[in-house]
Amino acid sequence: MTEQEKRLNLSEMLETHRRDRERLVWEGTFREYFELVTANPRLASLSHARICDMILAGGVEKIEGSKDELARYHFFSEELFGIEEPIAKIVEYFKSAAQRLEVRKRILLLMGPVGGGKSTIVTMLKRGLEQWTRTTEGAVYGIKGCPMHEEPLHLIPVELRGEIAKHYGIYIEGELCPQCHYNLENVYHGKHEDMLVQRIVFSEKDRIGIGTFAPSDPKSQDITELTGSIDLSTIGEIGVESDPRAYRFDGELNIANRGIMEFIEILKSDEKFLYSLLTLSQEQSIKTGRFAMIYADEVIMSHTNENEYSAFVGNRKSEALQDRIIMIKVPYNLRVSQEERIYDKLLKQSEALRNIHIAPNTLKVAAMFAVMTRLEEPKKANVDIVKKMKLYDGEDVEGFKSKDVRELKDEVVREGMDGISPRYVINRLSNALVKDNITCINPLDALKAIKDGFDQHTGISAEEKERYLNMIHLARSEYVSIAKTEVQRAFVYSFEEMAKNMCNAYLDNVEAYCNKEKLKDPITEEEIEPDERLMRSIEEQINISENAKNTFRQEILIRISSYSRKGRAFEYNSHERLKEAIEKKIFADLKDVVKITTSAKTPDADQLRRINEVIDRLVKDHGYCPVCANELLSYVGTLLSR
Ligand SMILES: Nc1ncnc2c1ncn2[C@@H]1O[C@H](COP(=O)(O)OP(=O)(O)OP(=O)(O)O)[C@@H](O)[C@H]1O
Ligand SMILES: [Mg+2]
Ligand SMILES: [Zn+2]
Ligand SMILES: [Zn+2]
Repeated sequence: MTEQEKRLNLSEMLETHRRDRERLVWEGTFREYFELVTANPRLASLSHARICDMILAGGVEKIEGSKDELARYHFFSEELFGIEEPIAKIVEYFKSAAQRLEVRKRILLLMGPVGGGKSTIVTMLKRGLEQWTRTTEGAVYGIKGCPMHEEPLHLIPVELRGEIAKHYGIYIEGELCPQCHYNLENVYHGKHEDMLVQRIVFSEKDRIGIGTFAPSDPKSQDITELTGSIDLSTIGEIGVESDPRAYRFDGELNIANRGIMEFIEILKSDEKFLYSLLTLSQEQSIKTGRFAMIYADEVIMSHTNENEYSAFVGNRKSEALQDRIIMIKVPYNLRVSQEERIYDKLLKQSEALRNIHIAPNTLKVAAMFAVMTRLEEPKKANVDIVKKMKLYDGEDVEGFKSKDVRELKDEVVREGMDGISPRYVINRLSNALVKDNITCINPLDALKAIKDGFDQHTGISAEEKERYLNMIHLARSEYVSIAKTEVQRAFVYSFEEMAKNMCNAYLDNVEAYCNKEKLKDPITEEEIEPDERLMRSIEEQINISENAKNTFRQEILIRISSYSRKGRAFEYNSHERLKEAIEKKIFADLKDVVKITTSAKTPDADQLRRINEVIDRLVKDHGYCPVCANELLSYVGTLLSR
């Protein structure tokens, strides 16, 4: 691209940007706005309904196989993984609140462990609203010059509202703020319909529709931060504090009107702030200085952790507030595959890590560890924590059905409320990576980095550390079998091909055996008996006894016919246990070659050629770089030579 073109593009971009902004400009009288709102009553939505519309506009799908129709809301699902349940509860809250049920008068409090996504949920709603109010469906209008950009319909006197509701189905709630009231009388001389209205676009930066309050030192923090303050530049001239011209209605609660107010760590803040919130949520009004209550319509969201919440619930003094809160638990994700997605997302956001190779299975193994730390020890006798972890992630575990997963989920008390956070894992990986000259990190490096952090991390007790070390160990054992499989796979020229052929041979024989038929030798065309040795050599890999073989073979045939009824091709991996048997059989056949080759101290020419082939294949087809491919091979070599 030439310099000239670059400059042209910039102007073009700026032009588009300007046009976009112009598109959002609308100004007119209240009379004109009234035309708009009667044609499209959604313009007058209250805050909860606005957020609800925004979330639903993103679309929703039912999660396959979930028990009680668990939904996945696309608004959240690009950013947040594995916490569909709490998110669905949050959306339910907005749905009820959108219908103006009592719940909208409560503060929505997210409670969960550190780094579990609470702030992310609130931030997504805030950023989402900024975007949503720029769209046609999400357009919002406010009285021009109102510090709270209030709903223009407040201009309609209370006595006339019944009529409007009957006629247009538009519900109006709230009174003019003191400043608009003053302007109506003194600037517009009481002519409601002339008052100016404009389209507004929410922006946290510009303090429109989105507010945030973070508790700091209660001594220096003042309630005016929430409810506004006397205007020192005009008070001298005007003289009385009860004149709206002498007051700035620009507290966080004021400016968040129509949208959302985030109250960071609500339970850490001083009581005086909580009482402001109490009136706001309960009566939808803000008590400010010498003024009558000022109406405000906003969603109040906050977050806290379990300890703080328990202390709060245990405190009698806080009962009034407890009543005004809806608490939703946001536990950690408990699925390994989703945890990997979280890491992947966080790594992509990190500048320093972007150019480093992450060896295959690194995130998976780290995720296994993290998820295990969050799980409660299963009570069922035949389930251990590793099996539970796999079952939760939807893996087939021999001898278990989806009913067992439900039972496991029913027995837990507070699962996911503690353990290792995604942030911890990513911090540890970053830590391992900033060491000089590292170009690649493998699963063992990751586990080591995580483990080395236990001592530095103040939040981990001695008891927990013990438990976590055990889980590092379990994750490493899982990796051992993954690593072996990876290498064995790469040893075969075409694993898929081999598996397919073996599967076909097995199925031909099983079919003949079950139908009491003979097979035809492909070369001599001779009739031959089914090859019992071949079938058994595969079945034995997954411990199918002589007595159980008939049942197993029948089961396979049933699966084949059910596949063919549905018009699907039966592949070697269509049946979980058959797949396992075939893989194991291939690997058993290969075992000696792999062992001798990988663990040779001084490989001969032939072994060397083989090693290079395997490394090439790992790099070309399996996502390794030369560094981690070599590391994998020598690791498996030491494992096999033991
Ligand atoms: N389930 C998840 N899906 C995707 N990302 C997640 C998930 N859980 C946590 N994260 C990511 O981890 C990081 C920390 O999350 P966040 O700050 O939202 O947690 P928090 O619950 O507010 O923690 P704290 O209690 O420390 O304030 C964020 O970058 C967030 O995106
Ligand atoms: Mg947070
Ligand atoms: Zn106003
Ligand atoms: Zn690598």
